[in-house]
Amino acid sequence: MSSCSFSVAIVLVTFLAFHFHGSRAQLNSTFYDTTCPNVSYIVQRIVEVAQSKDPRMPASLLRLHFHDCFVNGCDGSVLLDNSTTILSEKDAPPNSNSLRGFEVIDVVKTVVEYLCPGVVSCADILALAAEASVSLAGGPSWAVQLGRRDGTTANFTGANTNLPSPFDPIDVLKAKFAAVGLNDTDLVTLSGAHTIGRARCGAISDRLYNFNGTMMADPALNASYLATLEANCPNGGNETTINNLDLTTPDSFDNSYYINLANSEGLLRSDQELYSVGSNDSFTLTAGIYASNQTAFFESFALSMINMGNIGALTGTDGEIRTNCRLVNAN
Ligand code: HEM
Repeated sequence: MSSCSFSVAIVLVTFLAFHFHGSRAQLNSTFYDTTCPNVSYIVQRIVEVAQSKDPRMPASLLRLHFHDCFVNGCDGSVLLDNSTTILSEKDAPPNSNSLRGFEVIDVVKTVVEYLCPGVVSCADILALAAEASVSLAGGPSWAVQLGRRDGTTANFTGANTNLPSPFDPIDVLKAKFAAVGLNDTDLVTLSGAHTIGRARCGAISDRLYNFNGTMMADPALNASYLATLEANCPNGGNETTINNLDLTTPDSFDNSYYINLANSEGLLRSDQELYSVGSNDSFTLTAGIYASNQTAFFESFALSMINMGNIGALTGTDGEIRTNCRLVNAN
């Protein structure tokens, strides 16, 4: 090999190593096979018990993983409580009085620390709990990619700015997904997570009473659905009253979210926007495919969850394995 082509090869290898380090973490589904072989089973059983006590819990656990990954990557930072060194993401407005399920993660961590001390990260527990939640609610299963390590910092500002807001128009939603390496298909597919769970009246009151400053309801809302929502969320009433994100099957992970969008029955503005941008738009077309083909939705959802789980994962000797998911380890 000439010295010139040798230099080119070095540059190429360096570029590829950097590129793949930055965009695709070195995760795999067998990471704990020898060090903590029962971890997936333990997570599934604990989520199942939590679901039997509270049918909403799978939704809350799925959302925890999403809110973890969009802020500092999937590093368990969302689980950190306030301390002298941590300004907790839990107190940021998109999370405050909204995120749920922390106690379930604590139970998993306690059991896993007892069986395999110092081995399983809190970030991986969140990824496993999200998969268990979706499959226990009736959705797809997938081989969760593992080997993430836990971050030692939280990002309160990132929790305010990186997370999509229900008031965001479609271009902003796309930009927030693109900023973490997720594309438009991931956006329309992962929004299907809203086939389970609840949202507070505060997330929709503008749609009901003052859409875009018009003092009118959002014209994209079906009239009878609007009447139902207005009855549950009266103008000036309690903003913390909850609504089903999927009005038909609120605790079942199915494709009815997309059928609802086609009927102008998406709860959040950010949901209905996916369908209202134009009938030939790729969002509307993809949502239409999912509305008529649940298998297509399930297959895409599993792939997009793996994409989301790759965001900024710490591996190797980066970060740490926290002993308590709420605290960084003592130095
Ligand atoms: C596309 C942008 C998104 C926006 C604007 C958005 C916004 C919201 C809002 C406002 C709520 C209700 C919060 C409350 O009222 O307390 C919510 C709930 C929820 N979100 Fe999203 N979300 C988005 C994407 C996602 C993604 C990607 C996932 C998961 C993959 C997800 C999963 C959930 C779940 C399961 C709930 C219900 C949680 C529960 O009942 O505890 N969301 N979302």
